[in-house]
This record gives sequence, C-alpha cells and structure tokens, in this order.
Amino acid sequence: MVFNIALSAFVLALPLLLVDAASTKRSMCSDGRSAAANSACCAVFPVVEDIVDNLFTNECGDSAHGALRLLFHDAIGISPTAGGGGADGSIATFNATELTFPANLGIDDILDDLGPFLLKHSNVLSAGDFIQLAGAVSLVQCPGAPRIPFFMGRPAPVAASPPNLVPQPTDDITTILDRFGSVGFSPAEVVAVVGGSHSVAGADDVVPNFEGVPFDQTPAQFDTQIFVDVLLRGTAFTDGQGAQSGESETAVAGTVRLQSDGLLARDPRTACTWQSFVNQQSKMAQAFGEAVLKLSFLGQNQHELTDCSEVIPQAIALKTGAATFPPGKTVKDIELSCNDAKFPNLRTQPGPATTVSPIPQAVSTSTAAPAS
Ligand code: HEM
Ligand SMILES: *[C@@H]1O[C@H](CO)[C@@H](O)[C@H](O)[C@H]1NC(C)=O
Repeated sequence: MVFNIALSAFVLALPLLLVDAASTKRSMCSDGRSAAANSACCAVFPVVEDIVDNLFTNECGDSAHGALRLLFHDAIGISPTAGGGGADGSIATFNATELTFPANLGIDDILDDLGPFLLKHSNVLSAGDFIQLAGAVSLVQCPGAPRIPFFMGRPAPVAASPPNLVPQPTDDITTILDRFGSVGFSPAEVVAVVGGSHSVAGADDVVPNFEGVPFDQTPAQFDTQIFVDVLLRGTAFTDGQGAQSGESETAVAGTVRLQSDGLLARDPRTACTWQSFVNQQSKMAQAFGEAVLKLSFLGQNQHELTDCSEVIPQAIALKTGAATFPPGKTVKDIELSCNDAKFPNLRTQPGPATTVSPIPQAVSTSTAAPAS
C-alpha cells in the first residue's frame, strides 16, 4: 500500500503521512492475536470481525456496495458556504432529516442493513468513524479494491447536513465538478472516485421495478470494466421500458448507466482521465483509494484522529483484471471521447451476448445478534 499524496482540500491542509508498518512499533492487544501501534485501536478489531462475518458475509455484495455508497453520502455533506460536518455520521444520527434529501434515495435501505451494527458498536466508534470504517472494510471484500487507511476519533455530529450537497445522477458535469471542487477534489479525482466506486455498484431504486441492476458487467469485483461499459454506444436496455430519468439506455443487457456516469466519460474535461483508467487496474485502484481517503477526512482534522489502519484486513487480489469488450463488440462500439490518446486494445469476450444478472439484495439485518 503506497499512499504518497499531497491533499489540498480546504479541510485538510497538511500532507498525509502514512504509517510505515515496518518501522512502527506495535503492541499486542489483550485478545492475544491482534497488534496495534496505538492501543486505542485494539477495540476496533472485533468490530471489523463482526461486520466482515455478519454484515458483509465475506462478499462484495449488496451490503458492501451500500457501505461504500453511505461513506460518500455522509462525507460529501459539507460545503464552504452552506456548512455541514462532512464525514461525521450525520446521515445516520440525523437520518430523519437527511433521508428526505432526494439524492439520498435508497440510503434508508442501506441504513436498515448497516444501522444495527453502528448502534451495536457505538461504545467503540462514533457514527462518523463507523461509517468510514465500514466503507474501508467493504472495499477489502471486493477483489481488486485498495486497502485504504482508517483513522478514528471523529466526534459525534452536531447537526444534519444542509440539503443539496449530494450529487444527483441528473446533474450536469459543471454542477458535479463544482460540487466536488468546492471541497478540494480535482476533475481527475472525481473521475477516479465516481468511476471506481461504480465498478462495485448498482441501482436499487433509480430503475423503477428493478433492484440490484449493476452499473457494469462485474459488480462483485473492483475492476476497470465500468470504464469500458459506460463508453459503449447505447442500445436497448433489456427491461424493454427504455430510459428513465437520470439514466440512459445501455449497450450491456442487464446493466444500467447513470446519466452522470455517461457524461463524465464523454465530457471534454473528464473524458481523457476516464479513458486512461481502461485496463489500468493498479493506477485506478491507487487513484480511487487516495480519493476515498480524502473523502473520509472531510470536515475532520486528520491530526486529531488516531491512525488505526492496521485494523483493515488485507486486500483481495483480482484474478482476471483485464477489461474486455462484451461479446460481439469492438472498439467501433465505443463512443471515443478523448482526442489525446488512442483507446487501448482489448479482447472481445467470446460467445453470444449475455445478460448480466442482478445483484442479490441484502436481507435487512435488524435481527443482528446483540452486543456480547
Ligand atoms: C457524481 C457523483 C455520484 C452520483 C450522481 C451517484 C449516483 C448514484 C446513484 C443514483 C446510485 C443508485 C442508487 C439506487 O438506485 O440504489 C448510486 C449507487 C452507488 N454509488 Fe454512486 N454516485 C456518485 C458518486 C459516488 C461515489 C463518490 C461513491 C463512493 C465513493 C459512490 C458509491 C456508490 C455505490 C457503491 C453504489 C451502489 C449502492 C448499492 O448497490 O446499494 N457513488 N450512485
Ligand atoms: C432513524 O434511525 C433510527 C435508529 O436506527 C430509527 O429507529 C428510525 O426509524 C430512523 N428514522 C428514519 C426516518 O429513517
């Protein structure tokens, strides 16, 4: 894990220094099997074990996807003009307010799933810490995703986020870049964090009557396939109903493309970065990891937080990382949008066209085992 980045967010003026695992002295925790540089981190190991086993069930499935989306919707709730606490847990604590925001459509189901674990572990972690922890742990359920640092010590949120801070799929690219830009994200960072996250994602609500509709062919792996699929010329979407608001018809049967993703892939300000991630797994994972870490510090002072990165399990390597064209498709089916670079050569998947299966839905875990 190499993170050597200068973060420029207004909320975080100092460069991030990663703990060098080899040179940091760690002490054994009282469980006799974990070790941490700071003993305050010891209490987090059992939380990680609980959510890996009982929330994510060791899968890059709906619960892991939901935790990643929740991390974003909590963190982005901050603006230099409107206020808000960023990655503070307000989306859970002030759910009665924030769940009314249109951009938080579907977050209610995610909180139904994850909320019981947040409450169960509230003696160890604040709501803001729990949401960032769950997001970081969700990533290491997904082959190919980076293992990102985790910092602990966010205070309890003081108020709900102001409205209209979470980007919507119907927003234009100027609106999206301005929103992210106001909290220190460059257009290239926006491409990395949005494209990367939507590699392990799907829609539960924005496609009427359908749940778990993936955004790419491989929603259970963190790979660069999304950067290909979103650039394919649109053809019929298999539900036979055509495009709904906030989405476009897509070339890969069974998937749905958010309008905002389609535009990010094609806009002159972002298209070349988008294309540059095609088949560049480690570059994409690195850029994405840095951007997610930056989200986790929004509204927080990193120097008041404790580095507990050792609680995050090892990343899972991607077995077959190569991006491909779907059966029957070639570069001719790509809407070439970057004038500066040639589209990479990719293999076409053999066989007849297939339909991508829906992502199985998480069953609400409100019956989660009580705290021990
Ligand atoms: C322009 C910015 C973004 C927009 C407009 C956007 C929009 C959306 C929409 C509309 C959905 C589907 C919701 C549903 O119907 O269930 C979705 C899903 C998702 N988004 Fe984003 N998103 C953005 C950025 C991000 C970022 C930065 C992350 C994480 C770092 C993220 C993570 C996810 C995940 C993991 C899902 C799948 C959730 C699930 O399967 O339950 N998104 N996004
Ligand atoms: C907010 O969360 C609490 C605690 O999990 C829950 O009881 C309540 O129903 C939620 N409210 C809304 C509006 O979702």
